[in-house]
Amino acid sequence: MKAKIQTVIGTDVQRAADLLLAGRLVGMPTETVYGLAADATNALAVAAVFEAKQRPTFDPLIVHIANAEQLPLVVSEIPKRAKILSRAVWPGPLTIVLPKRPEISDLVTSGLPGVGVRVPQHPMALELLKRTGRPLAAPSANLFGGISPTTAQHVLDGLTGRVDYILNGGPCEVGVESTVISLMSDDAVVLRPGGFPIEQLERLIGPVKRAVTDPALDDAAQPAPGMLSRHYAPGTPMRLISVDELAEPESGRHCGLLTWGDWPASGGFERIFRICEDYNLQICAANFFAGLRDLDSAGLDVIIARQFPEVGLGVALNDRLRRGASGKAPAQTKPD
Ligand code: TXA
Ligand code: MG
Repeated sequence: MKAKIQTVIGTDVQRAADLLLAGRLVGMPTETVYGLAADATNALAVAAVFEAKQRPTFDPLIVHIANAEQLPLVVSEIPKRAKILSRAVWPGPLTIVLPKRPEISDLVTSGLPGVGVRVPQHPMALELLKRTGRPLAAPSANLFGGISPTTAQHVLDGLTGRVDYILNGGPCEVGVESTVISLMSDDAVVLRPGGFPIEQLERLIGPVKRAVTDPALDDAAQPAPGMLSRHYAPGTPMRLISVDELAEPESGRHCGLLTWGDWPASGGFERIFRICEDYNLQICAANFFAGLRDLDSAGLDVIIARQFPEVGLGVALNDRLRRGASGKAPAQTKPD
């Protein structure tokens, strides 16, 4: 019988590095969300990530590297736009999909020709990458489809017994996952809006396209992996309201409200989580997943959530809200 893992939280980077080099899994803080890290060059360790997260193998993992100079270890081609973006944004919340080197296991990329790479901006993650000397494959450290973790405790709540060690790097500063951009063809295509705003991407490399989830297709057949209509989802049903709609509870039901700013809500909500007192999308993003978790654990019948203006980080937050709210595809929005 497989021995149950005793999950430990701590700040010992060397211990975390030794575990990774021994093929074990480590919860790794990054500026976006916590990752479930494994040595990307160890196929067994990578397989253990999929198992621990209960993640389908059609959804590839992001590979984290210590700095842009390590890119040639992972990718076979570095187009000009990749150079511009990596110089301007890394370390930071942007994942770039580029042609992979044959040495990168097909398990990491789910058999795709491209690998998603980023340099995270968190001192502990960078130190871990330096001490292991290996690229680290790390999806968000939550069970597949659930709410991403932004504290070490969130990782423990979801993955206790499934991960050896969780490095505690405090709450994540950005709070929403990295923006994923593919540079596999002449078009630059954003596969997932995230912590690096699309407007800023376009200022650096010109117009980018947006991949859109097709509700008629199965999850595995979406135009890009990971574009699942239902994702980032609380267990409690969630209903969205627009930016300028008055939040009202549903009669006879235990209702919670996820909101921001000084916009009023009518009485009768059992629990209100205001992720930011005014209009600051950075603060909204930093508190977003913690707010969703708080309401999800309050035994409510429904969570009503106020959407964000479709600009900057609001694009990523609305994307997470729509995917969390239903099995339906997100609205086809373009951030301009
Ligand atoms: O901020 C983040 O990106 C966090 C931290 C830990 O770095 N990681 C993260 O990983 O959110 P994950 O696995 O939860 O989401 C990664 C997304 C998935 O939707 C995946 O499908 C996409 O990136 N992705 C990864 N590699 C890809 C590839 N080779 N081609 C296309 N999409 C890819
Ligand atoms: Mg994830």
